[in-house]
Order: sequence, then C-alpha cells, then structure tokens
Amino acid sequence: MLFSARNLVLGLWLAHVSSCAYNATVCGSAPYTSPNGDLNFNANAWNADSQGFSCLSVQTSPPAFDSTWAWSSNPNQVHSYPHVKFKLPDLPVLLSNISALSLSAQWSMGPGSTPLPALSVDISGLADADTTANVAFDMFADPNPANAQNETLAATEIMIWLGYVGTPVPLGFSSKRTCFNQMLGTLEFILYQGKNSRGTDVFTWMATTNETSFSAEISPLLQYLWRNGLVPSNSSLGLVEFGSEAYHSESNVTFSATSFDAELVTGAAPNLTIASLPTACSDAGSARRQGSWLLSRVSILGILGYVLYLI
Ligand SMILES: *[C@@H]1O[C@H](CO)[C@@H](O)[C@H](O)[C@H]1NC(C)=O
Ligand SMILES: *[C@@H]1O[C@H](CO)[C@@H](O)[C@H](O)[C@H]1NC(C)=O
Ligand SMILES: *[C@@H]1O[C@H](CO)[C@@H](O)[C@H](O)[C@H]1NC(C)=O
Ligand SMILES: *[C@@H]1O[C@H](CO)[C@@H](O)[C@H](O)[C@H]1NC(C)=O
Ligand SMILES: *[C@@H]1O[C@H](CO)[C@@H](O)[C@H](O)[C@H]1NC(C)=O
Ligand SMILES: *[C@@H]1O[C@H](CO)[C@@H](O)[C@H](O)[C@H]1NC(C)=O
Ligand SMILES: *[C@@H]1O[C@H](CO)[C@@H](O)[C@H](O)[C@H]1NC(C)=O
Repeated sequence: MLFSARNLVLGLWLAHVSSCAYNATVCGSAPYTSPNGDLNFNANAWNADSQGFSCLSVQTSPPAFDSTWAWSSNPNQVHSYPHVKFKLPDLPVLLSNISALSLSAQWSMGPGSTPLPALSVDISGLADADTTANVAFDMFADPNPANAQNETLAATEIMIWLGYVGTPVPLGFSSKRTCFNQMLGTLEFILYQGKNSRGTDVFTWMATTNETSFSAEISPLLQYLWRNGLVPSNSSLGLVEFGSEAYHSESNVTFSATSFDAELVTGAAPNLTIASLPTACSDAGSARRQGSWLLSRVSILGILGYVLYLI
C-alpha cells in the first residue's frame, strides 16, 4: 500500500516536472491568480536589490509552482518570499472561532533552474551555492479584521517553518532552545518571538526536523498563542500563505511546491489541551515580555517538566 502510494506521488511529481508546461511565470512582485480565483501566486521580491531576482512559474492543475531565484547580497536579510496565498472565503475569522485549520504541502529545493524530484533537498548542492532559505507557512492576524488581511498593517505574523537550509534565524532566535514548544502529533515545534522593523509581533514555530511532506491540523499552534495571552484573543486571522523565504544564494536555486492546501473550519474553537507557558526559559528573549505573568503560573508540574528537560 505504502509502496504504491509513494509511486503515485512520484508519478504525479514526474508528470509535473517533465511536462514543464507552466500556465504562467511571474517575476518580482507581479501576482498571478488562478482561473478559479482561490490561489494567488507571487514571486514576492519585497526586499529586492540589483544582485538578484525572484521568479515563480505556476501550473494551475493540479496546483504547483517552481520558484527560481538568486540573491548574492546580504545573507542575513530575507529578499523575497515566493509563495501561494490561499483565498479562503471564511477569512478573516476570529482566532477563537477557528474550529480547525488543516495545512499541507510538499516541497523540494536544489541548485539550478529546474525542479528536483519529489520531497528531496540537495543539501550539498545548496551548500555549494551558499544558500540560506527556509520553507514556511506564513499567517497574519489583527484585532481589526481588515488589517489582518494586509501583511504590512497586521499587528501579528505567525510563521510555521517546515525546514531550512543554511542558517536562517527566526526573529527572537538565540542559539539556545527556547522554552515554548508544542507537539502536533509526533512533530515538535519550538516557538520564537520577536519584532520586525515595522513593529509587527512575529511568532515563529520551527519544526525540529525538515518536513518535506507536511500535513497537520495546526490550530494547537494558534491556540497556544491566544490562550496564553501572547496574541490578543480578539484577533482575527486574515491571511494564510505557503512559500520559501529566500535570504541568499550565489547562484540559481529552485524551490518547488506541490500538494499544498489550507482547509479552514469555522466555529467555536475546541477546548484543546494546550501546554501553559513554561515557568523558566533557557532563552530569556522570548519570555521576557511575559515574565511577571509567567511567574504567577508556576506549577509543580511545570517545574518538574523543566527539571526533566534539563536532565
Ligand atoms: C494550463 O496549462 C495546461 C498545459 O499546457 C493546459 O492544458 C491548461 O488548459 C492550462 N490552463 C489554463 C487555465 O490556462
Ligand atoms: C481587542 O482587545 C484589546 C484588549 O486586549 C482592546 O484594547 C481592543 O480594543 C480590542 N479590539 C477590538 C477590535 O475588539
Ligand atoms: C496594505 O496597507 C498599506 C498601508 O496602508 C497599503 O499601502 C497597501 O496598499 C495595502 N495592501 C493591500 C493589499 O491592501
Ligand atoms: C534541515 O536540513 C539542513 C540541510 O541539511 C540542515 O542544515 C538543517 O539543520 C536541517 N534542519 C533541521 C531542523 O533539522
Ligand atoms: C538563472 O535563472 C534565470 C531565470 O530562470 C535564467 O534566466 C538564467 O539563465 C539562470 N542562470 C543560470 C546560470 O542558469
Ligand atoms: C463563528 O463561526 C460560526 C460557524 O461558521 C458562525 O456562524 C459564527 O457567526 C462565527 N462567530 C463569530 C463571532 O464570528
Ligand atoms: C470550552 O470551555 C468553556 C469554559 O469551560 C465553555 O464555555 C465553552 O463552551 C467550551 N467550548 C467548547 C467548544 O467546548
């Protein structure tokens, strides 16, 4: 069974790779919207300079895209975020009115201008090109529903990193593990928190493994934030996107995405068992703002858990 499912996935991918019959290619910041209007693609070179480019080629059915880019300047800055935006009719939606949000995607990344086979990452080829990039879902939220649908106006950005190459760091990162974490099934996500230059509160959930084939109901990651008071509980979710933040590469890199989807079920958020904020942190960076509040939530279990973690 597994074997044939794998062959099917491989077959679909090879069809995708070999046909190379794209319906559209966009570069820079010009968007392309799929014929039925539910997907919006953007090469999103929002921080472009003269030493690079970002292009994105779309196949509309089944939806897939390949993005070829290179940025040889500053490796510490994101230059582009080639991505697909899911035009879900129920957005914006109150965070507390998200019954479920299922996200899925498959991806590959390698050097050069053509896509790699399914679910593969050419680590040594990307290292040769000195590539720094992540692969991530990106979401925006704000108490004002209209602002939640605008990347630059939204008060809160919530990222889920499925993987990375090179050493990109999320805002609020320190070389130490932070103390906020949440499981989705068997996958562990570590939370980082920082502010970007616009003052947006950015929360990054980083998978502890590279997930080239991801499918999960991610509302626990959202509930963790608003039930613990990190994000205002009256915020609405306005945008859901999937792509790759491109920081740096000396030569062309191609990121490919397929089997991506977002399914939102509205209705009162279920009372999930959400871990409370930890009582102590190896990295003060992400907990500092909540410090005094954290201490009021000290529990024997929390301390025990932390001691066990230290061991
Ligand atoms: C997309 O491209 C495929 C393959 O060339 C073609 O069959 C299909 O009609 C195109 N779809 C649209 C909406 O242009
Ligand atoms: C959201 O809640 C905050 C308090 O946490 C309040 O100041 C703000 O007015 C509320 N915004 C809306 C749109 O309800
Ligand atoms: C987002 O807000 C900015 C600042 O008000 C505005 O310039 C931009 O056009 C808005 N974007 C969209 C997609 O509405
Ligand atoms: C993902 O793979 C890259 C390249 O091998 C590696 O540097 C990175 O540490 C991996 N990330 C995780 C979270 O394991
Ligand atoms: C890099 O990609 C661009 C855009 O696809 C292409 O025009 C260029 O020829 C590629 N460069 C190399 C060295 O393959
Ligand atoms: C929550 O979702 C339900 C089901 O879609 C909808 O009927 C209701 O109006 C929503 N409530 C709020 C406060 O948005
Ligand atoms: C969650 O728990 C609260 C407080 O106990 C309750 O008011 C609410 O109806 C519950 N919600 C759901 C979806 O079960």
